[in-house]
Amino acid sequence: MMQEMVISERDYQYLYKMIYDASGINLHEGKKELLKAKIAKRLRATRIPNAKEYLNTIKSDEMEFAEFIDTVTTNHTYFFRENTGCEYLVDLLAPKFVNTRPIKIWCGASSTGEEPYSVTVQFLEKGYDVQLIATDLSHTVLAKAKQGVFHEKRAENVPVNILHKYFQKGRNNRKELIKIKDFVKKHVSFRKFNLLIDNPSDEYFDIIFCRNVLIYFDDPTSELVVNKLCSRLSPGGYFLVGHSESLMNLKHPLTAVRKVSGTYLKSI
Ligand SMILES: C[S@@+](CC[C@H](N)C(=O)[O-])C[C@H]1O[C@@H](n2cnc3c(N)ncnc32)[C@H](O)[C@@H]1O
Repeated sequence: MMQEMVISERDYQYLYKMIYDASGINLHEGKKELLKAKIAKRLRATRIPNAKEYLNTIKSDEMEFAEFIDTVTTNHTYFFRENTGCEYLVDLLAPKFVNTRPIKIWCGASSTGEEPYSVTVQFLEKGYDVQLIATDLSHTVLAKAKQGVFHEKRAENVPVNILHKYFQKGRNNRKELIKIKDFVKKHVSFRKFNLLIDNPSDEYFDIIFCRNVLIYFDDPTSELVVNKLCSRLSPGGYFLVGHSESLMNLKHPLTAVRKVSGTYLKSI
């Protein structure tokens, strides 16, 4: 029989603060059970007997702390997720960015890569050159993203013509897998970047995606992250958040694009 995971209030508060400081993720009191479940998962994986000992481990073991942050973050994503903003940019706006150079895009919480590859294939399909930087906090998701191999279920929203042109289908015992083709991969580079802590380089982007990550942050953290990213957005550039996210309570230099969910413009 599985034993119930026990964690003292003091240890819970300590862990809460550790996660908040390291990632901005706010596992407030209402998420205590979730946090307990995540600790239980790591206890099983590491065979550490209890939460107290686990806490001591992550205080001194950087690798296990990174593993733990990975476990508490949600990496759920899929191809062509919440695609209206991207469609809008590809159909109506791409020519505006083209000035004999590739369109520069930053995906700020790219998870396992479905988002940056989805964006890339759509711009390529319309004949535009793109250069994407895809970043995430988690080394595990970045490693998966770089591989570019996915279960075909993740691509259920991808139009068939795009699927055939930009993906390779696996054979035999890999027939449920798809692989992004190498010529697409060349347009995307993956890097580790913590939105909360790291400082961006001094390059500017035409479009920045920061989707389905602000939901884990409180307003002050979201405001900090949005403004940090916007400082690297060219005037006239676009900023995209997830469909369930809003910048309404935050101070920022953006204007919402009417009728295009989650899409904002930085004025010139
Ligand atoms: C739900 S996924 C979103 C994936 C994709 N943007 C989408 O919309 O489908 C959230 C991602 O945010 C990342 N994340 C969480 N906190 C972060 C931080 N402080 N800095 C960078 N990435 C972070 C997680 O590792 C996870 O991969």
